[in-house]
Amino acid sequence: MGSETQTVCVTGASGFIGSWLIMRLLENGYTVRATVRDPDNQKKVKHLLDLPKAATHLTLWKADLSEEGSFDAAIQGCTGVFHVATPMDFESKDPENEVIKPTINGVLDIMKACLKAKTVRRLVFTSSAGTVNVEEHQRAVYDESNWSDLDFVYAKKMTGWMYFVSKTLAEQAAWKFAKENNLDFITIIPTLVIGPFLMPSMPPSLITGLSPITGNEAHYSIIRQGQFVHLDDLCMSHIFLFENPKAEGRYICSSHAATIVELAKMLREKYPEYNIPTKFKDADESLKNVIFSSQKLLDLGFQFKYSLEDMFVGAVETCKEKGLIPSPSPASIKDKDTTPECTVEKAIDVPTPVASVETSVN
Ligand SMILES: NC(=O)c1ccc[n+]([C@@H]2O[C@H](COP(=O)([O-])OP(=O)(O)OC[C@H]3O[C@@H](n4cnc5c(N)ncnc54)[C@H](OP(=O)(O)O)[C@@H]3O)[C@@H](O)[C@H]2O)c1
Repeated sequence: MGSETQTVCVTGASGFIGSWLIMRLLENGYTVRATVRDPDNQKKVKHLLDLPKAATHLTLWKADLSEEGSFDAAIQGCTGVFHVATPMDFESKDPENEVIKPTINGVLDIMKACLKAKTVRRLVFTSSAGTVNVEEHQRAVYDESNWSDLDFVYAKKMTGWMYFVSKTLAEQAAWKFAKENNLDFITIIPTLVIGPFLMPSMPPSLITGLSPITGNEAHYSIIRQGQFVHLDDLCMSHIFLFENPKAEGRYICSSHAATIVELAKMLREKYPEYNIPTKFKDADESLKNVIFSSQKLLDLGFQFKYSLEDMFVGAVETCKEKGLIPSPSPASIKDKDTTPECTVEKAIDVPTPVASVETSVN
């Protein structure tokens, strides 16, 4: 759908999701105002400026979630806002001020900018599965009525705890503000996002998603009982929900569930040249999937296009093209018939979804 007359703002434009969303918005006829913290950083913006129609339909705007009022100018005159940006420094020495406060204050500041603009028809917020299922005991199925247990998060202080806190408190504060101020507000809750991508560096979620290939064992616990969505499906769901007048509330966007055992099997078949483990401690064929139900999104008419294999092949091939994952070494090719066994902690210790120190997911 889309319209040449519609101008929308996308925050977190240089990132994994933001940049792909902008590509799809431009293709769909929108004019896009892309916010980044440093528009002069060519490494972070070149992939945006190189997009088809960017020369005529894309502008870059400087804005930071930590600076009150800094989104006002970019949002003024827009009919829609996609708030995708989030701070993800999990090594932060000051998580309260560097991660949690900017996430909460940032979304509220953007909501105030939407009200001031008077032109914004709907605000779409990219939330996180981390607002839904971070709790001691995993359920078989999660839906939009579920919220993470922040007492559990604060007690455990597991890797990425400040991200779960920041996204949960931000989404809850945003719902309160939206209701009090009658703002048309939608949240989308993606699980682990996988797929081909535009940004030049390794996307945070692929460090986790491709860990069976790269051997980054610290991330295995995150995908022990994983849920996944293709980047393109996620971005198209953002546009779908922005355009659909009947959309309201929270929407889980997750097309597949797979345990690490199932995922590794699929990856081994597709990429036998990598030395992908066949056995994982604390995870075997009997491990049950944990489902994130996208029924509400499907009931509104959205359709997922991509398979689990599409997601991972797209991601691996893009990483190879950009030189972001190593080529398989002759040793690993030779050893491919061995059956390495790797440790995967139980989800209770590092609940799904979780983030590593240098990255973040969900
Ligand atoms: N990828 C996933 O699997 C996944 C799953 C669930 C939810 N999500 C959500 O999706 C959104 C995007 O994630 P992503 O995977 O695209 O991550 P990403 O590639 O790291 O992008 C995040 C963007 O946020 C911007 N940002 C960080 N701190 C900021 C600040 N203080 N002010 C303004 N901008 C700031 C960064 O922009 P600069 O270039 O300006 O630094 C960065 O481009 C996040 O809200 C995340 O919670 C992601």
